[in-house]
Amino acid sequence: MAADFQLEVEDLRFRYGSREAVAGVSFAVRPGEIFGFLGPNGAGKTTAISCVCGLLGGWQGAMRFGGETFRPDLRAADRRRIGLVPQDLAVYEELSGRENLLFFGRLVGLAGAELTAAVERALELTGLGERADDRVGSYSGGMKRRLNLAAGDLHRPSLLILDEPTVGVDPQSRNHIFAALERLRDQGRTLLYTTHYMEEAERLCDRIAVLDRGRLIGLGAAAELAEQAGVPGADLEQVFLRLTGHRLRDSA
Ligand SMILES: Nc1ncnc2c1ncn2[C@@H]1O[C@H](COP(=O)(O)OP(=O)(O)OP(=O)(O)O)[C@@H](O)[C@H]1O
Ligand SMILES: [Mg+2]
Repeated sequence: MAADFQLEVEDLRFRYGSREAVAGVSFAVRPGEIFGFLGPNGAGKTTAISCVCGLLGGWQGAMRFGGETFRPDLRAADRRRIGLVPQDLAVYEELSGRENLLFFGRLVGLAGAELTAAVERALELTGLGERADDRVGSYSGGMKRRLNLAAGDLHRPSLLILDEPTVGVDPQSRNHIFAALERLRDQGRTLLYTTHYMEEAERLCDRIAVLDRGRLIGLGAAAELAEQAGVPGADLEQVFLRLTGHRLRDSA
């Protein structure tokens, strides 16, 4: 029987020294859904994602993937089930877009014809085909973001995590990224996605978790969050303000 949830996270806690950045967070992502992860600066989104991807060890709590115990911090095979599009760009400026993707593809174990096909598919998905052989140093910020997305999805992970994939990009690249995410959704892929753009989250996400100061303060579809926040029918921006007490990006 297929598991009800792709990823289950239970009572996740993580400290940087004495600072508790994630303070007991539980959520579960269903197969095929786009799950939004929202919260003001410093809420703990990137930290929680880093625990789920295996970039940070030493967390407490429990995780399951496809119904099985999941230890991405300890097992490379678990790490490979997830693709990460990191908040901080991870691309090599001296290499071309295609060379970057070949490099990242090898890192996740792809080779030969499979690697070539994965690179071509990722270039096509993100609309970078025409500039694939140019040095990344000559790309716009938006094109680098698109390359970052292409790199995370090369091995078609069961869960693709995107940490602010559209931050600071020009409208054209934003549309490309949006279209790519919608295509992945239409293919039945599972995405976990953080953004500070409420209209994006409202348009793309099936369900949304709202974090603040390391804790979950709301979880559900946008309309359910509005009910939980006591402002039924309100748009996500208003719901977010009501839940967190502040606007996005004013709390850092
Ligand atoms: N490497 C680190 N060492 C110490 N503290 C950290 C480190 N990284 C993050 N923090 C702290 O942990 C908390 C959570 O940060 P995190 O980056 O996870 O938040 P975020 O929700 O991703 O924020 P943003 O929207 O700004 O990306 C913040 O208080 C932050 O200052
Ligand atoms: Mg972050």
